[in-house]
Amino acid sequence: MIDASTIADWNDQLSGASAQQIVAFFLEKFKGKIAFSTSLGLEDQVLTQMVADVDPSTRVFTLDTGRLFPEAYDLMDRTSKKYKINLEVFFPNAHEVEEMVTQKGINLFYDSIENRKLCCRLRKLVPLARAMQGLDAWITGLRREQSVTRENMQVVEWDAGNNMLKINPLIDWTEKQTWDYINEHKIPVNPLHKKGFASIGCQPCTRAIEPGEETRAGRWWWENPETKECGLHKK
Ligand code: ADX
Ligand code: SF4
Repeated sequence: MIDASTIADWNDQLSGASAQQIVAFFLEKFKGKIAFSTSLGLEDQVLTQMVADVDPSTRVFTLDTGRLFPEAYDLMDRTSKKYKINLEVFFPNAHEVEEMVTQKGINLFYDSIENRKLCCRLRKLVPLARAMQGLDAWITGLRREQSVTRENMQVVEWDAGNNMLKINPLIDWTEKQTWDYINEHKIPVNPLHKKGFASIGCQPCTRAIEPGEETRAGRWWWENPETKECGLHKK
């Protein structure tokens, strides 16, 4: 465990640092014990570029829930080829998913929050735990602006649920900054973003948003904003 004062010192030391500097700082400090977790979302595409620039041998993984958009698979392919990274893909446990959908239905998540959380646990959290084995730190593309559930997050945090450090280099970034960086560096992105899909997760749990709606309004749109975390980033 890394103590709270070390984490506070790193947050102080890195306040004002660029996202690229934050990435470089932690990739060096935790070399071999750090990985970047990508959903292939906008922010994650920015971070893929940064991670590949600093050290393309860094572990980069994604959780393939089995319910992603076809566009996400195309982007996985384009991204790993462009950046010459070895994108590790983690699947859920087949037996657990078979049992869940046999007992509760293929689209169980619409029936109750409990079902939705079960599906997220089996399709995301269980594989995440496998992806994280042996790590001391993970990097995510979280931004504070994304949601009420994320407004108190810091660049460096102790992730008690996973018992490791969580690094959020883009935590202060705005959506405009993210798009500017993507356009400037010609970074490949999911074509669904241009069709109103601001934040993209699994296909049945993501819809496009209307102008003026908040970024994550299209994720689990039938739930209220306070419950809208799948458990990857719950405090
Ligand atoms: S979620 O918890 O609601 O699904 P969101 O889509 O906003 O999260 O993504 C936040 C961060 O969580 C991403 O930047 C990425 O680091 C991580 N993440 C989310 N989904 C995945 C996934 N399928 N595979 C790997 N990492 C993911
Ligand atoms: Fe299941 Fe939807 Fe969660 Fe994906 S986002 S794991 S489909 S409940």
